[in-house]
Amino acid sequence: GAAALLATFAGTVSASALTVGFSQIGSESGWRAAETTVTQQQAKDRGVDLKFADAQQKQENQIKAVRGFIAQGVDAILIAPVVATGWDAVLKEAQEADIPVILLDRQIDAPDDLYLTAVTSDQVHEGKVAGDWLVGAVGDQECKVMELQGTTGSSPAINRKKGFEEAIAGHPNITIARSQTGDFTRTKGKEVMESFIKAENGGKDICAVYAHNDDMAVGAIQAMKEAGLKPGSDIKVVSIDAVPDIFLAMENGEANATVELTPNMAGPAFDALEAYLKDGTVPPKWIQTESKLYTASDDPKAVYESKKDLGY
Ligand code: AHR
Repeated sequence: GAAALLATFAGTVSASALTVGFSQIGSESGWRAAETTVTQQQAKDRGVDLKFADAQQKQENQIKAVRGFIAQGVDAILIAPVVATGWDAVLKEAQEADIPVILLDRQIDAPDDLYLTAVTSDQVHEGKVAGDWLVGAVGDQECKVMELQGTTGSSPAINRKKGFEEAIAGHPNITIARSQTGDFTRTKGKEVMESFIKAENGGKDICAVYAHNDDMAVGAIQAMKEAGLKPGSDIKVVSIDAVPDIFLAMENGEANATVELTPNMAGPAFDALEAYLKDGTVPPKWIQTESKLYTASDDPKAVYESKKDLGY
């Protein structure tokens, strides 16, 4: 917008001049809440005026929000895209209005010239890390896995499934016996796990739960406990995000492993944006965040303490 342009001419672009629209998915998980908090904090620290829109899990709401940001003439738009497809038209509108778009935490299926960059983890790798952990933990034992998938059509659900399947591919003793979406929420994770337990003869033959995020794992843990099962010991639990609550579950011996996803996607996004607006520095199309495995031997209590005040 005009303010950013003026600042450029003055040779001292200051972020305080920027107005940025942020189309957030909603608040399905503890991780999502932390991402929202961190993004708002990052904006505040940099003097960015952040226009926040909560899409309540609906892509149509996100598209409307983005059109609204374009109409307002914001300097840039951040989108955490709920699903991977269906973005081309609105991204072209942003491009025609000369408004750079940065994707946060999820990838999309669209030509990459339609956005400036995407700040995400390698979600196939996350699934692979989770699967590799399970392969190591079960050895030669027959293992029936219950998979709780993320939101259908979202890049993390597609990719975390793929990576996990790659990890167990050479291990015919490990099979995904049931797989269903739990929409990344605790409530649905619990509900789906209850139905899996019923369908699996009270859960006695279940060897492991692989949840695409910690919140669904926490819901599943609840369902297992209510059914008299022992998550963390009789049934292994591996998931993704590394939110504080999964470390409490680990501390109690009820969860085994998680792959960390940083909620700070906005920091690298604003860095890239500020450099781009200042002197045209073009960032790489993908700014990849780290994926670190935590297990019960990593002092879960201490990790919990270190994370609990970070906006989750
Ligand atoms: O896109 C990231 C995923 O979305 C997180 O892993 C999950 O918790 C969130 O809902």
